[in-house]
Amino acid sequence: MAQTYPPIHYAEYLKVDDLLSLQKPKSEEYGKSAHDEMLFIVIHQVYELWFRQILFEIDSAIELFSGDRVDERDMLKASSLFQRIIEIQKILIDQVDVLETMTPMDFLEFRDFLYPASGFQSTQFRLIENKLGLVQRLTYNNQDYKTSLPQNKQHEVSATEESPSLFQLLEKWLERTPFLASEAFDFWKAYREKVEDRIATSRQHVMESELNEEVKTVHLKNLEQMDRSFHSIFNKSEYEKLQQEGYWRLSHGALCAALFIHLYRDEPILQLPFQLMTQLATIDENFTQWRHRHAIMVHRMLGAKIGTGGSSGHKYLKATSDKHKVFQDFFNMATFFIPKSDLPELPKEISDKLRFRY
Ligand code: HEM
Repeated sequence: MAQTYPPIHYAEYLKVDDLLSLQKPKSEEYGKSAHDEMLFIVIHQVYELWFRQILFEIDSAIELFSGDRVDERDMLKASSLFQRIIEIQKILIDQVDVLETMTPMDFLEFRDFLYPASGFQSTQFRLIENKLGLVQRLTYNNQDYKTSLPQNKQHEVSATEESPSLFQLLEKWLERTPFLASEAFDFWKAYREKVEDRIATSRQHVMESELNEEVKTVHLKNLEQMDRSFHSIFNKSEYEKLQQEGYWRLSHGALCAALFIHLYRDEPILQLPFQLMTQLATIDENFTQWRHRHAIMVHRMLGAKIGTGGSSGHKYLKATSDKHKVFQDFFNMATFFIPKSDLPELPKEISDKLRFRY
């Protein structure tokens, strides 16, 4: 007989009473009840709960990608974790609409009670950033972001700066991609030859065309620019220079693999890896969208006032939406995509493997 468990009530299981005892508007405490403070508290708490779930999924993903090799059977699991994060992010972005039913004047009714509290002090938000792999941060007041966190959380957040982030684990995973270089096929060499050939042919076509000189010059300039861009990834020392300048973050090996996976994504074995990278780019984009929405909402609420946490308010937040990115390389990489019809043909030995033909 199947094991039986003690019955449990909905309210007990979900600790509903505890949950509903956690909304304590300051305006009521001070005898100056402000209607919208309840919404303000609930919405922040809901965000923190979703942050908790996102962290839970990121931790599982980090576990899957830790170690010397990733079990191929875990690829689908990783993809569904990422998809779940994406779906939650959509809610996080949409939720700003609910908050915006509060007008700036409604907010003023209780804002003075909140100093110096700020979302800037959200420990879970920083954990998400660090575990995903954010490293370059804007600062304000020249202070380390961690000094704003509760004392007893600073250590936990520091630890995530040191432990491998999802970005780093993904980079290692990409570096281990097979099929890139063998006796039968050297992807990087074949791709480089194709690209150089394409640029040379296009140049020739422009020169021999009947276009007027002005248009020709524009086309040739574009081709020269393209040539320079490709040169910056074909030449390792140039690539390293761009890495130092912060344009690229992935190692050269990981970038080659990422490009290979994108270019040959129709090959059955590469479909899930392609999907994973696409999902990570979407997660990055969704956080940028949230930052942007939050910044616009803050502008609308505060105008040019500084934040309760002391920043320049919406200006600081807009700048973070431009700068605080993790998987930016997956976006920059698109410069180097070439049409499918131009891809170097895979030798049968490799394509058989990529197509599970045994
Ligand atoms: C009326 C609503 C809100 C206003 C006026 C507001 C204002 C601000 C301001 C001005 C900052 C910059 C730091 C500072 O000077 O305080 C900030 C940061 C932040 N806020 Fe909000 N916020 C609001 C709602 C929310 C909500 C609902 C969340 C959800 C958790 C949130 C999360 C954050 C986070 C995570 C940061 C840090 C962003 C970063 O440093 O990249 N905020 N907020």
